[in-house]
Amino acid sequence: MSELDELARRRGFFFQANEAYGGVSGFYTYGPEGAALKRNVEETWRDRFVTREGNMEIDAPTVTPEPVFVASGHLDGFDDMLVECAECGESHRADHVVEDNTDIEDAETYPTEQVEDIIAEHDLACPTCGAPLSGQSVDEFNLMFDTTIGPGDGQPGYLRPETAQGMFTEFPRLKEYARNQLPFGAAQIGTGYRNEISPRNALVRTREFTMAELEFFVDPEGEGPDLSRVADVELPLYSADAQESDGEEYQHLTPQEALEEGVVGDEWVAYFLARSKAWFERVGVDMERFRFRQHLPGELAHYASDCWDAEGEVGGDWIELEGVASRTDYDLSKHSEHADDNFTIFKQYDEPKTVERATVDPDMAYLGPEFGGDAAAVADALEALAERDRSAFDGEEVTVEVDGDEVTVPTEKTGFAVEEQTESGRHIIPHVVEPAFGVGRAVYTVLAHNYDEDEVEGETRDVLRLPAEVAPTTVGVFPLMDKDGLGERARDLAADLREAGLSVTYDDSGNIGRRYRRQDEVGTPYCVTVDYDSLEDDTVTLRDRDTTDQVRVAIDDLADVVAGLADG
Ligand code: GAP
Repeated sequence: MSELDELARRRGFFFQANEAYGGVSGFYTYGPEGAALKRNVEETWRDRFVTREGNMEIDAPTVTPEPVFVASGHLDGFDDMLVECAECGESHRADHVVEDNTDIEDAETYPTEQVEDIIAEHDLACPTCGAPLSGQSVDEFNLMFDTTIGPGDGQPGYLRPETAQGMFTEFPRLKEYARNQLPFGAAQIGTGYRNEISPRNALVRTREFTMAELEFFVDPEGEGPDLSRVADVELPLYSADAQESDGEEYQHLTPQEALEEGVVGDEWVAYFLARSKAWFERVGVDMERFRFRQHLPGELAHYASDCWDAEGEVGGDWIELEGVASRTDYDLSKHSEHADDNFTIFKQYDEPKTVERATVDPDMAYLGPEFGGDAAAVADALEALAERDRSAFDGEEVTVEVDGDEVTVPTEKTGFAVEEQTESGRHIIPHVVEPAFGVGRAVYTVLAHNYDEDEVEGETRDVLRLPAEVAPTTVGVFPLMDKDGLGERARDLAADLREAGLSVTYDDSGNIGRRYRRQDEVGTPYCVTVDYDSLEDDTVTLRDRDTTDQVRVAIDDLADVVAGLADG
């Protein structure tokens, strides 16, 4: 167990869930300190990506019926590569086995057969028992947890692997709330589930985790973001080109420069990279150990045309903390095809336009006897073809596909015509830019980046230098000793500070030095001590965690002073 995991468990940040029953890997419980830290991290995310951006927040179910994931492509394509050891029966992620034991860094971008070959060529062994893995087949393993909705055979359903689909399936309603105006954003903080083959690194790869996702719906021809608002943010960019040229060449560019130099291709992606970087800095990610890495072409999810991962370095490894993806119109188009609702936005022109429209008016009497009950389907297919490709009606006959069969109709029976029409606008399927964060990974990285050891009065201390805004406790309140009325005065003060909205821990056990150390270890930025002078002059000692400097503050001013310090 790493030092950080040990601290996390001892001090109540997080620990393996259900240990009394042996535990199952990939599931963690946040203890009191961790739950508070996680909640504060989520609040800052909400503040940045919902409130300050003017986006809406929703809260959708986590159990989702199967047709949603048929449409989204997850049922077919949300897979990882699995290799099973013939000796001990343990399953492993094949790409991880390759990456951990060869120089290859991006094995997940390779096809399964190639990974199988690499395992054989390098004679790679099972990480659990050491038996050779060569000769074992590498299979695709779907990561979704399945379930049955309702009794008996019920309806097949899945625990959502991303919160995003909630924003997509509810789009027909959300667009009404946005008064059919683009751009607009819908966000969600909630649980996602993935049946990971090899959970690892504590909160980094778990089977149940909290995601914070924003789906930002844009008109690809519409106005972009106001980049002057993020003009002073420098993005540490590690592009696909730089990775492929084997360079560790990061470019430090503002969003505007990144667009002008063609490093980032989409204005909204550039904008959200900047907002993301500032947010990670705000919650305590060390900017010296942070970068944005562009996905390599083979690495992209099935829905993405481009993606930049925010990554934080922990223990020599880069952890993916967030993906900012261009999902184009992939999801809304798929739901348009599969669902019975309208996933478009009506885009009004500035001036009405006269346009030529190809129309059909098929002779249903002709289609009826010839094609039986499918006459309406043939008519629909002709209509769609007329919209798509007028030249298909140039000849004597037109061929369309209906339910997989080719159907040929004489052109004169289709009623094909081109007419001039006046249009006030048209229906478009919005494109989506998606900043998707893993909250547990952010929490883990913040803990790792702020955990420090220093020396105070000749003694080594463990200290978590968390930003005050996310620290589980803002102020620790101690009586010098619990006697002569000091304990009562301190308990009173703690209650007053709580009433003023601060998060407070009261502690009177052990010597004062130990109480400071306990708060240092859980990241409490300020501690207050009530001593004998306090009973005389109504002042207390206020100590700063990082400098350990102490000042006297009037009790009446304390809540304001602490709140002011915590706000920075
Ligand atoms: N909707 C987009 C999406 O789901 P993703 O990159 O697969 O994108 C988003 O997931 C974020 O969720 C990742 O950047 C990562 O921080 C976090 N994440 C993904 N899988 C995880 C896991 N097994 N355990 C913990 N966090 C995970």
